Amino acid sequence: MIRILHVSDLHFGKPNIPAQTAALEGTIASEMLDAIVISGDLSLRTRHSEFEQASRFVRKCESQAPTLVIPGNHDCAWWMSPMGVGDYYSMFSRYREHIRSDLEPQLKIPGATIVGLNSSHGIQRYTLTTRPRDLSVVGAVRGRQWERARLAFAMAPANDVKIVVIHHNLLKGKISKRWGIASREIGIVDAALTGADIVCCGHDHEEHVAEVDVAQRKLVVSTAGTLTNRTRGGRPGAWNLIEVDEAVIRVTLYEWNGAANDFRSTRKNAYARRYVA
Ligand SMILES: [Fe+2]
Ligand SMILES: [Fe+2]
Repeated sequence: MIRILHVSDLHFGKPNIPAQTAALEGTIASEMLDAIVISGDLSLRTRHSEFEQASRFVRKCESQAPTLVIPGNHDCAWWMSPMGVGDYYSMFSRYREHIRSDLEPQLKIPGATIVGLNSSHGIQRYTLTTRPRDLSVVGAVRGRQWERARLAFAMAPANDVKIVVIHHNLLKGKISKRWGIASREIGIVDAALTGADIVCCGHDHEEHVAEVDVAQRKLVVSTAGTLTNRTRGGRPGAWNLIEVDEAVIRVTLYEWNGAANDFRSTRKNAYARRYVA
């Protein structure tokens, strides 16, 4: 049994709720976890002070389990290089200084291959939208990025569970009705064609766990909620626990319970694994 804690959108700075972060840190310190996945939006406005807090959280995670972290759109200083003008990497200089230099890390643990892809590129030709407020919000995963995941999975043991991590929600938000990545439904097909069993994502600030059946593959999508006061529809803060054994992928939702001052498991989703060793 592999146990992976998936959290997203901590937004250190004003939106972050310290009691929720502290409770999650307690869980991370006490649970036996094989990996921790943080799917972006660690800061609000790429401020040093926000990334310093985020960095402390990431170090605590790393001290307990192998940790994969990728940036979100709020970790990307899009104004440094809009529309491809200037140095692309200047948008991530603070993220790279405080969190990770690698924007697309991969993590191998026994039984699992996890590939991070950066879906946050600021404002680019390929992220343009008719909604002006969304200019720096929409994400994209380009063909060569999906290919990177496909190659990593092709080289991984056949019975490994294969996980792609992106920031933007792969599925249309239930409340927001918004797509995270510019390619919309095509992105779901692209993700399935990598050979992934699971996609971890966030961004929408609403938890959403589902299995999609596309391109003759089944794909479990774990969209984590947020640990901030910016949840959608006044929902509680939330994160997901992913458990995988030879036959089943289980994703359990943990939601904030104010009375308990802690997260409580509220919903379990179980899906048959497509490839069994
Ligand atoms: Fe966010
Ligand atoms: Fe986001």
